[in-house]
Amino acid sequence: MREGNLALSFGNSICELKPAGTFQYSRLASELAEKGKEIISFGIGEPDFPTPRHIVNAAINALRDGFTKYVPPQGIPEFREEIARHVSEFTGTGDIIPEETMVLPGAKQAIFLAIASYVEPGDEVVIPDPSFYSYEHLTRYAGGKPIFVPLKEENDFRMLPEDVQTLITNRTKMIIINSPHNPTGTVLTEADIRGILDLAKENSILVVSDEVYDHYIYEERFTSVLTDPEWRDFVVYINSLSKTYSMTGWRLGYIVANKEAINRFTLFAVNSYSCTTSFAQKAGVAALSGPQDFFVDILEKYRKRRDFLYHELNKIRGVRAKNPAGAFYIFPNIKEILEQRKLSTEEIVMQLLKKTGVVMLPGTAFPHKAGEGYLRISYGLPIKDISKGLEKFKEFL
Ligand SMILES: Cc1ncc(COP(=O)(O)O)c(C=O)c1O
Repeated sequence: MREGNLALSFGNSICELKPAGTFQYSRLASELAEKGKEIISFGIGEPDFPTPRHIVNAAINALRDGFTKYVPPQGIPEFREEIARHVSEFTGTGDIIPEETMVLPGAKQAIFLAIASYVEPGDEVVIPDPSFYSYEHLTRYAGGKPIFVPLKEENDFRMLPEDVQTLITNRTKMIIINSPHNPTGTVLTEADIRGILDLAKENSILVVSDEVYDHYIYEERFTSVLTDPEWRDFVVYINSLSKTYSMTGWRLGYIVANKEAINRFTLFAVNSYSCTTSFAQKAGVAALSGPQDFFVDILEKYRKRRDFLYHELNKIRGVRAKNPAGAFYIFPNIKEILEQRKLSTEEIVMQLLKKTGVVMLPGTAFPHKAGEGYLRISYGLPIKDISKGLEKFKEFL
């Protein structure tokens, strides 16, 4: 719907964009912090370790060497080579070539580009519910219609092929997959992935797969959509350096897709932002080509935090949590507590924040109905803070 007066008459697309559902909580948390209240935030969607030194140094060296000008819109050749090699190895796909890659300023930009390049007004886009808010907002921006697949707790919040199947119509243009999943931490099984990909192939539907948490895997093996030998025909794969290398502020993401798609996406870059920051891409090369063993310790630390949260949350009366297999989020069910107190998920989150300074996010911020009655708790913070925050949460309850 158009908004505003005539002189400032924004177009329909821009009016479809909404703030992140988490915005009001982070804003209030900052206000409380400014007034001196101690804030413990389980709201953050980023890791807490610093970007590894060798990556930072690569950017510093690039700056010192004057690598500060425009670079190719689809990314510098050496970074695209590293992406092709890294993704081929990590996913087990084996044969991705640099021409099938594109560097972008973050996975979010890649999500935008994928949706804006394919979705036309009236097209239906199948989106998991709950899910990362950009999928819905950007689908609406493109004039598309989000079709939500409710992820059920009894199915470990997996997006099941049979649930997706019931939603497919002759208007379905795209299915969005996100595994490991924000906000539930669920990792889809190989059978889930194969089932969804088969459905997409049978019905000529494009699959956009957001795999930004692919290194945060605690249990089962991770399956990428790129393991399908026919991926070039119907897949846009999205990843980023934000979560694995703790580079959220660097804005480095990438797409893997067939060459024709990459050529089209490149035209968007040429006409809108020219290129991804030159010296950041040098850091990206260092990240992908450098030592990867630092992540072993990180993953162990995150696993301990996850296990701690899982055990402690399940000790609280009225709270029921699954132990998620991936990402760094846990998604406890608090429906019993809400029923007893006649509160909505948003209300309890707001009260918790105001009274205790603890930030937990309502499942409804992601961004639709299925998150009602759940909290998203991020464990991108040290275990001593997790413990303190949980104590405050228990006291509050
Ligand atoms: C599922 C998912 N995709 C994409 C992003 C954004 O990643 P980037 O920092 O690379 O834009 C996030 C960030 O929270 C996310 O949770």
